[in-house]
Amino acid sequence: DTPFQYINDTLHVEDVPLTTLAEQFGTPLYVYSRAALTSAYQAYAHACAGYQAKIYYAVKANSNLAVLDVFARLGAGFDIVSGGELARVLKIGARADKIVFSGVGKSAAEMQAALNAGVKCFNIESLAELHRLHDIAAHANQTARVSLRVNPDVDAKTHPYISTGLKSNKFGIAFDEARAAYRTAAAMKHLEIVGIDCHIGSQITEIAPYLDALDKILELIEALEADGIQISHLDMGGGLGIRYDAETPPAISTFVHTLLTHLAERGHGSREILFEPGRSLVGNAGILLTKVEYLKPGADKNFAIVDAGMNDLARPAMYQAYHDLAPVLKHRNPPPAALYDVVGPVCESGDWLGRDRTLALKPGDLLAAHSAGAYSFTMSSNYNTRPRAAEVMVEGKQAHLVRARETVEQLFAAEMKLPD
Ligand code: LLP
Repeated sequence: DTPFQYINDTLHVEDVPLTTLAEQFGTPLYVYSRAALTSAYQAYAHACAGYQAKIYYAVKANSNLAVLDVFARLGAGFDIVSGGELARVLKIGARADKIVFSGVGKSAAEMQAALNAGVKCFNIESLAELHRLHDIAAHANQTARVSLRVNPDVDAKTHPYISTGLKSNKFGIAFDEARAAYRTAAAMKHLEIVGIDCHIGSQITEIAPYLDALDKILELIEALEADGIQISHLDMGGGLGIRYDAETPPAISTFVHTLLTHLAERGHGSREILFEPGRSLVGNAGILLTKVEYLKPGADKNFAIVDAGMNDLARPAMYQAYHDLAPVLKHRNPPPAALYDVVGPVCESGDWLGRDRTLALKPGDLLAAHSAGAYSFTMSSNYNTRPRAAEVMVEGKQAHLVRARETVEQLFAAEMKLPD
C-alpha cells in the first residue's frame, strides 16, 4: 500500500505525478506523502488500542514542522534529543507533557530549557547526567521527572553503527548497575522517578531481541518495586525496521501486538507503555527526487551523475545503505539498459546513491530514491556549499511546499571576513 505508484508509466505520489513536482519545485527535492504518514501512525495507534500504550515519534528521523504537525494532530507525543528538537516541537504547539527528552549528552542549557517547558520525562543515560539534572532542578527549586535508560545487553542484529543495546555501546546505564542507579536517583530530592526506558537499535527486522529486552526490563522493574521504587511507565524505544530492498520486517501491527500481549501475559497489561518509533513512521513515506545530469560510460563502470549527492542523502556513503532508485518515467522507446553506479556531484569517491543498478537512462531523466523519509533530509549537509533541497508534502492532488530550497546566500550569511 505504497503511495508511490505508476499511473500511465509515470511515477506518482498519491495523485500527483513526480514530473509535475520536479517542474514546479526543481530538483533535488524531498517529497512526502501525508497519507503514508497517517497510515503508519494509525497502524501503531490501532495496535495500541485497549492498552495504556502511547506513541512518541522520534523527531530525529524527520523533523520538518509539517511532519511533526501531522503527527501531533493524530495525537502523537514526541521523543527529542536536543534543545533544537525541543524548540521545533514547541513551535508546532506540542504539549510539554507529551515530550520525552533522550540523548547521552544533554547540555545544562538544554536541560534547563526542557525543565522550563515542563517535559514529561528526561531519559537519563548516566550517573553523571543524573547529578547534573538534579543540580539544575535544585537550583530552580523544581522537580525533574526521570526515567533511566537501561542497556539490556541484547543483540539487535542490525548494522553495528545503529545497534545501541550492547554493553559495548555508549548508550544507557549497564543492566547490572541499574538497580543501584535507581537507588541513587530515589535519594535525590529534586528528582521524581517516573519510568524506565531502553532502545536496542534501529532498523531491527526481528521481534525476538525486543522480547529479550522486555523480559530483562520486567525483571528489573520487579526488583525495583521490591526496593520500594515505583515505575509508572515503560518506554520500549524505537527501532522497528522498514523494507528498503528485500528485508522482511514484521508489520507494525504484529510488532506492537506481540510486545503488548507479552506484557499482558507477564501481568503488566495495565502499565503505561511508550514506543519511540522514527523510521517505521516516516521512512517509506518519502522519496528523494533527483535528475540525471550526465551519463558517463566507462570501460570498468558506467556512471550516472545525478543532481543529488551525499550531502542530500548520506545513508549510502555512511552505512552502505541501499535505497531503491526508480525511474520516474518509463520510456516508450527506452534507451538500452545498462549497469550504472548512480553518483552525485560532490567531490568524494564515497558520493554515491546506488551501485550496480540496471537502468535505462537518458540525460535529463528523473529518478526517485525510495525510502528517503527517515534520516535523509535530517542528515543532509551543506558540504561543497550546496544548498539543502526543498521539501514538499503531498495530500491527494495537492502539493504543499513545506521547506523552501536554501539559497547560496543563506549558506554564508552568518560568516564574516577578518577586519581590514
Ligand atoms: N529512541 C531513541 C533513544 C533513539 O536513539 C532512536 C534512534 C529512536 C528512538 C528511533 O529509532 P527508529 O525507530 O527510527 O529506528 N541514522 C541512522 C539511524 C540512527 C538511529 C538513532 N536512534 C540511519 O540512517 O539508519
